[in-house]
Amino acid sequence: MNRVLVLTGGGDCPGLNAVIRAIVKRAAKEKNWEVVGSIEAFNGILREPTEIVVLDEKAVSGIHYQGGTILQTTNKGGPFAWPVRQKDGTYIAVDRSDEMIRKIQYMGIDAVINIGGDGSQRISQQLFEQGLNIIGVPKTIDNDLSATDATFGFQTAIQIATEAVDKLVTTAASHNRVQILEVMGRNAGWIALNAAVAGGAELCLIPEFPYDINKVMEKIESRFVRGRGFINIVIAEGAINSNGETVGTRSQEVGYENIRLGGVGFRLEEELKAAGCEYSIRTTVLGHLQRGGVPIAYDRVLATQYGVKAMELVLAKEYGRMVSYRHPYITSVTLKEAIQQPNLVDADTALMKTARGIGISFGD
Ligand code: F6P
Repeated sequence: MNRVLVLTGGGDCPGLNAVIRAIVKRAAKEKNWEVVGSIEAFNGILREPTEIVVLDEKAVSGIHYQGGTILQTTNKGGPFAWPVRQKDGTYIAVDRSDEMIRKIQYMGIDAVINIGGDGSQRISQQLFEQGLNIIGVPKTIDNDLSATDATFGFQTAIQIATEAVDKLVTTAASHNRVQILEVMGRNAGWIALNAAVAGGAELCLIPEFPYDINKVMEKIESRFVRGRGFINIVIAEGAINSNGETVGTRSQEVGYENIRLGGVGFRLEEELKAAGCEYSIRTTVLGHLQRGGVPIAYDRVLATQYGVKAMELVLAKEYGRMVSYRHPYITSVTLKEAIQQPNLVDADTALMKTARGIGISFGD
């Protein structure tokens, strides 16, 4: 019997379960393949005793529309930076990758499918270089991977953010307000840009185009006549002001390396007041609502395509590759290519031109 290990790493994302289900269903068509899952990314392998579950068709039945991941996930630690507590209570990061690969091989696992974002793909590439038979499946609500046309979860996040804009438009109009909505995306403005266009916001502030508060004020003023009017602003969590500053904090959670972005909407509120804005301002931070719940149909379909393709790459022994969507094909790229360039909004992005074309200001 051949065995493939599946795991989900990094932040969760609507559609992860649909990928897992598709891998299991595709494997079930082969006589000699068993699928097992590692709980909480690679931690399930690294822990003693190991936390590995058998994934058969019964285990994945009906999970395609469930949010989150039945395998759980983490964006802390991992095989290259396993946190080990010292006597003085501090932690050091230990590289356990070699030991983990040996353990995977000892368990009779022939291949690994790692479903994750850019951080997970980097880990996969390193493990591949160390001899692990590994395949990547791209997932992120941020849409910041350039080696694929689309990642599942992104469209669901846009849908949720757009519904938030829709709701905020009516309350802003009722109160003659400046209404700010902060959305996720890390260093990419894709969620903000799409939600601003779909929801009809007038201002969209994204990391790729640092904003000038005076330009933001000009746009706000253009929407008010004798104190009456309203404006909706969508700001990406990674937005940068003209001083080049983002808003984030270093997490106290052990093994969490990323800067936690968040709060830039409140900073904008303060900057607007300091710049003389006398209109009523309210800020909403959408946060993890963008990642939770049921994936929309598009993301379920894409996730299912990715799952089937990942299993087919395993069957063909095409390791060191990441599944990718290049319209109209589901194909694959090397993990090396996959981690080369982030996918960021640029001035030539068609949707940027559309947004500017309908008068959305980027405060630049
Ligand atoms: O990468 C997905 C994402 O949701 C980002 O948009 C956000 O900055 C980050 O993850 C939040 O991470 P966490 O779940 O650790 O707070």
